Amino acid sequence: MKYQDIVSKMTLEEKAAFLSGKGEWQTREFDHLGIPSIFCSDGPHGVRKQAGAGDHLGLNESLPATCFPTAATVANSWDTELGEEMGKALGEEAMALSVNVLLGPGLNIKRSPLCGRNFEYFSEDPYLAGKMAASYVRGIQSKGVFACPKHFAVNSQELRRMAMNAVVDERTLREIYLTGFEIAVKEGKAKTIMSAYNEVNGTYANENKHLLKDILRDEWGFDGIVITDWGASNDHALGVQAGSNLEMPNPGLGSARELVEAVRSGKITEGDVDERVDELLDAVMTLYVNAQNKSDEFDIAAHHTIARKAASESAILLKNENNILPLSKGAKVAIIGDFAFVPRYQGAGSSLVKPTKLETVSELVRNYDLQVVGSSRGYSRNGEEDAAIKKEALDLAAKADVVLYFFGLNEDSESEGMDRNHMRIPQNQINLLQELGQANPNLVGVISAGSAIEMPWHHYFKALLHCYLNGQAGAGAVLDILTGEVNPSGKLNETIPRRLEDTSCFRYYPSRERTSEYRESIYVGYRYYEAADIPVLYPFGFGLSYTKFTYSNLQVNEDGVTLTVTNEGTVDGAEVVQLYVGLPGAKVFRPKKELKGFTKVFLKAGESRKVTIPFDDKTFRYFNVKTSKWEIEEGDYEIKVGASSADIRLSAQIHKEGTTTEYPYDMSKMASYYSGKVDNVPDEEFVQLLGRAIPDGKWSGELTINDAFCQMYYAKSALARFVYKRLTAMKKKADESGKPDLNTLFIYNMPFRAMAKMTGGAVDMKMVDGIVDIVNGHFFKGLGAVISGYFKNSKQNKEYEKLIKK
Ligand code: BGC
Repeated sequence: MKYQDIVSKMTLEEKAAFLSGKGEWQTREFDHLGIPSIFCSDGPHGVRKQAGAGDHLGLNESLPATCFPTAATVANSWDTELGEEMGKALGEEAMALSVNVLLGPGLNIKRSPLCGRNFEYFSEDPYLAGKMAASYVRGIQSKGVFACPKHFAVNSQELRRMAMNAVVDERTLREIYLTGFEIAVKEGKAKTIMSAYNEVNGTYANENKHLLKDILRDEWGFDGIVITDWGASNDHALGVQAGSNLEMPNPGLGSARELVEAVRSGKITEGDVDERVDELLDAVMTLYVNAQNKSDEFDIAAHHTIARKAASESAILLKNENNILPLSKGAKVAIIGDFAFVPRYQGAGSSLVKPTKLETVSELVRNYDLQVVGSSRGYSRNGEEDAAIKKEALDLAAKADVVLYFFGLNEDSESEGMDRNHMRIPQNQINLLQELGQANPNLVGVISAGSAIEMPWHHYFKALLHCYLNGQAGAGAVLDILTGEVNPSGKLNETIPRRLEDTSCFRYYPSRERTSEYRESIYVGYRYYEAADIPVLYPFGFGLSYTKFTYSNLQVNEDGVTLTVTNEGTVDGAEVVQLYVGLPGAKVFRPKKELKGFTKVFLKAGESRKVTIPFDDKTFRYFNVKTSKWEIEEGDYEIKVGASSADIRLSAQIHKEGTTTEYPYDMSKMASYYSGKVDNVPDEEFVQLLGRAIPDGKWSGELTINDAFCQMYYAKSALARFVYKRLTAMKKKADESGKPDLNTLFIYNMPFRAMAKMTGGAVDMKMVDGIVDIVNGHFFKGLGAVISGYFKNSKQNKEYEKLIKK
């Protein structure tokens, strides 16, 4: 142990208390032992340091910090250098604001376009997600701040995220849901990881030895600390034993008492506690030293410029008929749409940043060589029809050469704590669009949305620019692209399907019972659409440019591929060259092809460059559930290089020897998986995939401490059902108001046990047991337990406090 000298001086009570937070954001300090406290803050695309009262849902204001584009946006840049540059800026800001651990980036896989947090996640593809995450981590950590990739793992659904069991087979887990984290750990050298709320195959992520020890520490060599998501701890002792270091945010001393009792009863050993303490000490001491002589300032203007660059590089030109873009100098334009006035530039929840400044298209447009005939909000943001502003917009449209229409998803569509239940934009925006199309055929659409949306209306537009959620400096980036000052180079990090029903998990997502079954297996995003032959609107990796790139001279050897890319057009630009690998006729089912490398190359007009994309340990591997190892299947692999998953320009083959002849599956029993048609997998096949029975996810019997508040509709107690009804009514009211009420959403999805984990010691687990008894109709028994528990808890807290205050 590195800190044996300190660990040996600590009492068991001190060690146990050290392993949980002391407030919303901090760890406990022990002055007499020379152990300082460290400070954690969200988040992924900007620092959310709360100076006053802390909450983890972005309710109370935070200090101003640069609001960079969200992860879903920057992933469209496919530019790891940009990720690192942004990471450095984030690290600098964190340091200046006295934040030691930045809680991000988030890299859960976009299993379904409906996940409310997709705007915070990088991609449907683990390789792209991992590479981008690793770049953020490198940047953040280069400034002495630890990054915290999250949420480990399989947290791809918000609904009941704290009370849900992800049932996923080992191969899918490894290939789709863990590979990104593997890259962030191995290549980014992440020093902290946040464990997810949910269970993975029946064990809470934070207690999951398979995830935290076997894979994270032993296989990947992770040498940092595991921090629970806020309120994600279930049984702290089992967490510590499995390799989790720090329970956050503020369980009071109840969790510490549980740990002490667990050691005394022999449930876990003191050695387990010592190991976790030593790891946490290493982090705390390192972070403390890193923060000495830190600057309290950061360069606001320079970081705004980085945010603008990130926004420019990440916007995707989806269509551009007759080269309507870039706009000609002095073009007569009408600016239509509320988003041009009040941009939607970030998402809601714990990632909410208070920007240092916020630019809007309606103001910045005057700096450009355009003749603006007028601007109108056009539609109302709350979804209601407004005839007056609609008319104003239509009148302007009739006067302009080109109409610039700013639209997209409203604030209430995407948020932590909820999933969307459809992929549409508000109908009033579509209604206006239809009429604009009649008033003026030259429509250019500028979309703000943090994830994929259905676009049955896309034919109305001559050009479409998808900006995702592009941060505080997004407006300038958009105008630069519209006017040709910047040549767009973003490519989609996810597929835009034609309709929600086309997604592979349409029937399984979001799960409504206790289990979320990942029946579609590895067929997520383009892996599915290609295998099942489902046409899509815009494919993964797609994005246009104002210039044209050609690919030639592909060479493949054992180390990777080289090819020549030429900018054949008349303007400079950047191209994202993508490498996909497939194995036709594979014995082990697999997608037609998978992303295995990429590079972004900037070329002046007319310039040619040789580019190299190396192979790595992931290029040919698959996870074999029979040998429990990564293996390579023998065969002639197709090497495909292209400008998107659907635009392969060059192909070649390479033969690979196999690493095993033990094949994991019985092909005759897994027709869906071998055909890729996994939208309705029968039980028998899912059993084959899982290699075990499907766990029963139905609620029955009495509610437990791990059931969510929203399960109280099953409650025996009339009082509990009343509380459930009130909560549901509050949620409904908030949903209708157009602004998600994050507190209500959090409570709605929160399990009973979280009351003991997030109330600073006011409630302990014994009291929670009493509350659950009440819910289950044992009113007097429960009430007695709550009242006696209250007095006992306060007394025990005081006694414990004395033991650790010296
Ligand atoms: C979110 C995390 C976040 C934490 C602290 C949780 O609810 O899931 O992503 O870092 O709160 O705000």
